[in-house]
Amino acid sequence: MPRTDTKTVYICAECQTRHPRWEGRCSRCGAWNALNETSEPRKKPPANGIGSSALDAFSAIEPIELSRVEVNTSNWLQTGIDEFDRVLGGGVVAGSVLLLSGEPGVGKSTLLLQIAASVTASRGAVLYISGEESPEQVRMRAVRLGVTGDRIFLMNTDDVDAVIARIDEIRPSLVVVDSIQTMTATDITGVAGSVTQVRECARRLTARAKTSGIPVILAGHVTKDGAIAGPRILEHTVDVVLQLSGDGAGSLRILHGTKNRYGHTNEVGVFEMGPKGLSEVTDPSKSLLTDRSLRPEPAPGTAVAAVIEGTRPLIVEVQALTAPAGGQTARRVATGVDLARMNQVVAVLTRRVGLPLASQDVIVSVTGGMRLSEPAADLPVALAIASSLLDVAVDPGLAAAGEIGLSGELRAVPQADRRRSEARRLGFHDCLLPFSHLAGHSKKDGAGSGVVTLAEAVRMALPRCRDGLHYARSGDAGPGG
Ligand code: TYD
Ligand code: MG
Repeated sequence: MPRTDTKTVYICAECQTRHPRWEGRCSRCGAWNALNETSEPRKKPPANGIGSSALDAFSAIEPIELSRVEVNTSNWLQTGIDEFDRVLGGGVVAGSVLLLSGEPGVGKSTLLLQIAASVTASRGAVLYISGEESPEQVRMRAVRLGVTGDRIFLMNTDDVDAVIARIDEIRPSLVVVDSIQTMTATDITGVAGSVTQVRECARRLTARAKTSGIPVILAGHVTKDGAIAGPRILEHTVDVVLQLSGDGAGSLRILHGTKNRYGHTNEVGVFEMGPKGLSEVTDPSKSLLTDRSLRPEPAPGTAVAAVIEGTRPLIVEVQALTAPAGGQTARRVATGVDLARMNQVVAVLTRRVGLPLASQDVIVSVTGGMRLSEPAADLPVALAIASSLLDVAVDPGLAAAGEIGLSGELRAVPQADRRRSEARRLGFHDCLLPFSHLAGHSKKDGAGSGVVTLAEAVRMALPRCRDGLHYARSGDAGPGG
């Protein structure tokens, strides 16, 4: 059949969505018999056969050779808040949808208002939807943050279609929806925050972001027990998922990427909550070690990890507490480290180092709300646990990094030199690392703190245990037991 210059499309009278085929019910807004047939000229491909932007390319119906797809980063929106842009891998991609999740009170609305203010200064208007707080409340926060609010257009609504209509009208550089759990699609049953509503509202906003190229940031609450009722169901819909976390009463806030269609997820942003909102922390390692530096004596049960988070090395404290389980099944609790990984470390400490941990509750946490995903955190986690069990402080001048194998050997970690120099910069005399990093040196050279096995690392890091402590004896309840 010869190809004509026009094609038929069906446009929904309610929501203006275009459909390639007639449908009895609009799949976007759910309106019945609302699709009208119309013909329109076919889009002529540009001379080189390539759309002008990545967006065009992905929406093209004609196949396009992957190597010829242009990636246009010039339209990325830099918010001007570097720690935020860093986690995103440079900025907000045109037409992308971001989910910013976190517990109530952690500072999502504060961060979003600061982002909005920064974007208006550099790029243009921001549409800020506040479904939770009245305009007065938002204004009060703005005053506190020193934000004038010029060109931040505030809408206090929960009607998602009203929001979409305003996006088309105002054509802002960014849309902020605080929060997605307050939005409702009036033609759908279910209360705001229900799975159907959250999913449908996010879908409509995503569709508009894609067609308009205007990025949208959705705030989403997670509850204390980790049941991420609302946001979890959105993780597949959105392009980027960011989590803002803090350490209870502390002022540090860590921004993690947990999903990013456009870049890495291993980068972290570090902020501090103060009287004028969130400020970027320029020396995160130093801030993460503040509590440690205030202690008069080195505390047993703590160890210092030299990790690489994304592109930068970070020095953080790992804390552990062991306590007799008292005849019950031993409890294992991990905050900031993976529980399965921690259990593996406990098993290796039990079997290969001989520490009597089987009947001990073991609790591990990372200070500052940091989350360590690197296997290199194994060694500091093990040292903190051993230190708590033996009630002996780890050498306070020592940081550590190393992956622990099941046979109790230490495996190499990437970027050993950067870890060591960051540790030294912060005043640690050395960083305990797997011996393989000291290739070319014989151990007798005094080549530094290279260790081959976990047992050796424990002996080295817990100096008071080096001699005379026979914790490997079977049947020994250990000093903690
Ligand atoms: P908020 O951004 O409202 O949290 P979320 O939107 O995640 O629920 O922040 C709430 C907390 O932050 C609140 O306890 C007060 C504190 N805060 C400051 O300490 N300084 C500030 O400048 C602002 C605006 C808030
Ligand atoms: Mg809020």
